[in-house]
Amino acid sequence: MIDLSKYRHLLLYIAATCLLFIAAESEPSVMTVVESLTIYPAFMRCSVSPKEIRLTSFSVASSQPCKVILAETKCRCVQVINQLPFSIAPGHPVTLQVKVIGVLPGIKTINLHTTIGNISANIQVVSAGLGLGADTVKRTLVAANRDQASVWFILKDFKGSIRNCGCSDGSLGGLDHLASLPDLCKSQAPTMETRFIYIGDTNGMRLNVASALDQHGWKEAGNDVILSDHPERDVQSQNVAVVIPTVPSTVNHAKIVSIPIDEGMVVMALTMVKGRIIKQELIPIDHSLPSYTNVLARFTSPLSVHVHENVDLGVSCASCHASASTAWHASAHAHAYASLAVADRTDACISCHSTSISKTDVVAGVQCQACHQNTEAHVASRGVKAMDGTISCQSCHDERRQPDFLRDPAWAQILHGK
Ligand code: HEC
Ligand code: HEC
Ligand code: HEC
Ligand code: HEC
Repeated sequence: MIDLSKYRHLLLYIAATCLLFIAAESEPSVMTVVESLTIYPAFMRCSVSPKEIRLTSFSVASSQPCKVILAETKCRCVQVINQLPFSIAPGHPVTLQVKVIGVLPGIKTINLHTTIGNISANIQVVSAGLGLGADTVKRTLVAANRDQASVWFILKDFKGSIRNCGCSDGSLGGLDHLASLPDLCKSQAPTMETRFIYIGDTNGMRLNVASALDQHGWKEAGNDVILSDHPERDVQSQNVAVVIPTVPSTVNHAKIVSIPIDEGMVVMALTMVKGRIIKQELIPIDHSLPSYTNVLARFTSPLSVHVHENVDLGVSCASCHASASTAWHASAHAHAYASLAVADRTDACISCHSTSISKTDVVAGVQCQACHQNTEAHVASRGVKAMDGTISCQSCHDERRQPDFLRDPAWAQILHGK
C-alpha cells in the first residue's frame, strides 16, 4: 500500500476529471474485436480503499505477431503502466500491468489499440472514494454564500443501491450519510436557502427509503424539477428550472442536469440565483459526511435461513470437472457471499448470493448447484445421468439490478466447460 497523502493535489485533480467524465454522457466507442487477440480476464473487480493504489494485471495474447500501440482509459484512476509500444509474439502472452487508484467507483474500460485491431477489458473499481464529500459540500456552500445564491441538492434513482449497511452498491456512502446532509448544510450555512430533492426510483430495492429521507429534510421533486425523455422540448417550459434527461440529451442548455447513476452514491448540487442554475457540482456521499445510523435501523431485515460458510459443494464435481471447478473458483460467483456486507446478510439479499440446499439452509456463494439442476443423480451415476439443464442467468441478473444484462458477454466472463 502506498500512502497517497503526499499526492493530494494529484488525487483532487483525478477526482475532478473522473467526476467530469462521469457527468458527461459518454458515447460507447465502436470496437473492432480481432479473434486472434485475447485479454484475460476480460472483467475484473478491484476493491481499493481511498488511500490506496492497487496494482493488478491482465494477460494479453495474440496468435499473430503484433504491437500494442496505445492503451486508452477514459478515467484516470485506471492506468496502464507498461511502456508503449510493446510487441506480442504468438505463444508468448504479455502481462499488462495496471494501476488502479481508489477515487470513484464504477466500471472502467481499458482499450488496447494494436497493429492488428483493438481489444478491451473492464475493471469494476469498488471504492469508498477519497472522502471528499464533506469538503465538496463546504466549498459549494461557501461559494454560494458569496454569490448570495441558494443551493438545491438533487438525488436521483438508486436502483437498489441504497443499502442498510451504511454503504452503497459498489461504494461510497449510504442512506445514513444522505440523511445527515440537510442538517450539515443548516449548520454550515444557517441562513442559506437550501432544498433537498429526490426524484426517480429512489426507493430502489428498499421500500420506504424515500419516506425515511423525508424525515430528515429531503422532499420529493415538485413541478419545477423534472425527469424528461424530451429535454430539448422541456427546457422551453417557463415553470421548469431543472430538466434531468433520461436519454442522452442532444442539446446543451443551462437547465439540463445530467446525474450519473451506477457510479456510487452521488448527489448533484445546483447553485441557483433567482431560480437559474449558475453552477453544477457532483457531491460524493461518503464517509466524510456524518452518519445518522438511526435511519439504518428502520431497514434491518431478518435472516431466516442458516448459512453454512466455507462449504464447497463443488468438491463432488471437481474430481471429474477440474477445469470447470478452477474457473468457478476464480469467478465472482465463488465470492458472492463474501461480498455482502455483514449487515446485508439478510433474507432480502441472500437469495441470489448463496445456494439453497434445503428449506432452512443455504451455502455461501453461487455454487455449481445454484445453476446446474439435479446434480445428485448425475454424481450418483458417475456422470452417466445428464443434468436437468441450467437455470436462467436472469433469475438473479434481473431487470431491476442489471437492465442491460446480456448473457453472451457475461457467459464469456464465467466461461467453463468439461
Ligand atoms: C443464483 C444467482 C445467480 C445466477 C443464477 C447467476 N448469477 Fe451471476 N452473479 C450472481 C451474483 C450474486 C454475482 C455477484 C457476485 C459478487 O460480485 O459478489 C454475480 C456475478 C456475475 C458476474 C460478475 C460480473 C458482474 O456483473 O458483476 C458474471 C459475469 C456473471 N455473474 C455471469 C452470470 C451468468 C452468465 C449466469 C448464467 C449462466 C449467471 N451469472 C447466473 C448471481 C447469479
Ligand atoms: C435478484 C437477485 C439479487 C438480490 C436479491 C440481491 N443481489 Fe446483489 N447481486 C446480484 C447480481 C446478479 C450481482 C452481480 C451484478 C451486479 O454487480 O449488479 C450482484 C452483486 C452484488 C454485489 C457486488 C457488486 C458490487 O457492486 O460490489 C453486492 C455487494 C451486492 N450484490 C449486494 C446486495 C445486497 C446488499 C442485496 C440486498 C439488498 C442484494 N445484493 C440482493 C443479484 C442480487
Ligand atoms: C452461474 C451459473 C453456473 C455456475 C455457478 C456453474 N455453472 Fe457450469 N455451466 C453453466 C452453464 C450456463 C453452462 C452451459 C454453457 C452453455 O453451453 O451455454 C455450464 C457448463 C458446464 C459444464 C460443461 C457442459 C458441457 O456440455 O460442456 C460443466 C462440466 C460444468 N458447467 C460444471 C460446473 C461445475 C463443476 C461448477 C461448479 C464448480 C459449475 N459448473 C458452476 C452455469 C453455471
Ligand atoms: C464421476 C465423474 C463425474 C462427477 C463426479 C460429475 N460429473 Fe459431470 N459429467 C461427467 C461425465 C462423464 C459427463 C459427460 C461428459 C461428456 O459429455 O463428455 C458429465 C457431464 C456434465 C455436464 C454436461 C452434461 C449435462 O448433463 O448437462 C455438466 C453440466 C456437468 N457434468 C456438471 C457436473 C456437476 C455440477 C457436478 C457436481 C455436482 C458433476 N458434473 C459431477 C462426470 C462427472
